[in-house]
Amino acid sequence: ERQWEHDYYQLMEKVARYYQQQLKAGKQGERVITYLKDRGLSGEIARDFGLGFAPDEWHSLQALFGHDQSINKALVNCGMLIEKDSNRYDRFRDRVMFPIRDRRGRVIAFGGRVIDKGEPKYLNSPETDIFHKSRELYGLYEMRQFNRKVDWAVVVEGYMDVVSLAQFGVRNAVATLGTATSSTHIQQLFRVCSKIVFCFDGDRAGRDAALRALSHSIPQIKDNREIRFMFLPDGEDPDTQVRQVGAEVFCEEAQNAPSLFDFLMEHLKSQVDMDSFEGPGKLANLAKPFIDLMTDAIHRERFIQQLSLQVGLSEQKLNALLLDPPKQQS
Ligand code: UTP
Ligand code: MN
Ligand code: MN
Ligand code: MN
Ligand code: MN
Repeated sequence: ERQWEHDYYQLMEKVARYYQQQLKAGKQGERVITYLKDRGLSGEIARDFGLGFAPDEWHSLQALFGHDQSINKALVNCGMLIEKDSNRYDRFRDRVMFPIRDRRGRVIAFGGRVIDKGEPKYLNSPETDIFHKSRELYGLYEMRQFNRKVDWAVVVEGYMDVVSLAQFGVRNAVATLGTATSSTHIQQLFRVCSKIVFCFDGDRAGRDAALRALSHSIPQIKDNREIRFMFLPDGEDPDTQVRQVGAEVFCEEAQNAPSLFDFLMEHLKSQVDMDSFEGPGKLANLAKPFIDLMTDAIHRERFIQQLSLQVGLSEQKLNALLLDPPKQQS
């Protein structure tokens, strides 16, 4: 009995190598390399991120691993084979493959993008014993391989954005994996740096994602931690943006993006007519649930101070009228 028969990680590493080799030497590799080059990606960046190609076949992994039952079962459990009735077949076919690594560099899942056009555009591994979307950040391992000491990181939506940013020299980007930003994501990042900039797409989905990230971010702010929200022009994403403005400008804009508290205030104000009689009162009410999330006393105090100016009440009054006493931090 070979050791890797029961070792999902080694199995996944072997799949990743196979996909990489299909890109470099496979029959259809040429076509895929052309696609990546058209998107501005070099061979070096493709290598850094271990990009590969899943051939347009139904049984490539079974051809690679043979028909051993326990290995086939493991491939199903890892999400690489789909089991239907008594058939098993490759989940990923004819796609550019992005290996998703955990913090320690182990391949735990894949993302696959169609080459050029097709549906669905992106396909990810399902949740498995070794892959929990809400915990993992694409690019975290690669970022740390490149530079152990990062000051700040930018969080984007897609793995293509991460790779494209890296291509242009922005090596401190990570992506959530087709899920909303979770508290765990933010905690993971704060373990390696103290400043996070969210940069979602300049579209409806991106703006919604920013608002969800906001709520999860507020409780995490403390001490010297800093969170900012960068907004891209309509229709742009980090990939297209860095192409237009270059790494230097991109990073400058990221680091000077509105702070979490400025973004929150703007977001709240955008929902009320401040010139109306009820406006300021509404603003205070809208702010309350967010203030309740603020565990850092200094930031909380400062935000209430700013709010009181907007609302036209003294801080004391505002506190007394609306807000519960600060919650004890657990
Ligand atoms: P987008 O829809 O913004 O991708 O999804 P995109 O920028 O158009 O893709 P490209 O540039 O043409 O390649 C943003 C990210 O969300 C994830 C992917 O990681 C994608 O890069 N996503 C999107 C999924 O995981 N599944 C989906 O069905 C869609
Ligand atoms: Mn899109
Ligand atoms: Mn988008
Ligand atoms: Mn996008
Ligand atoms: Mn894109």
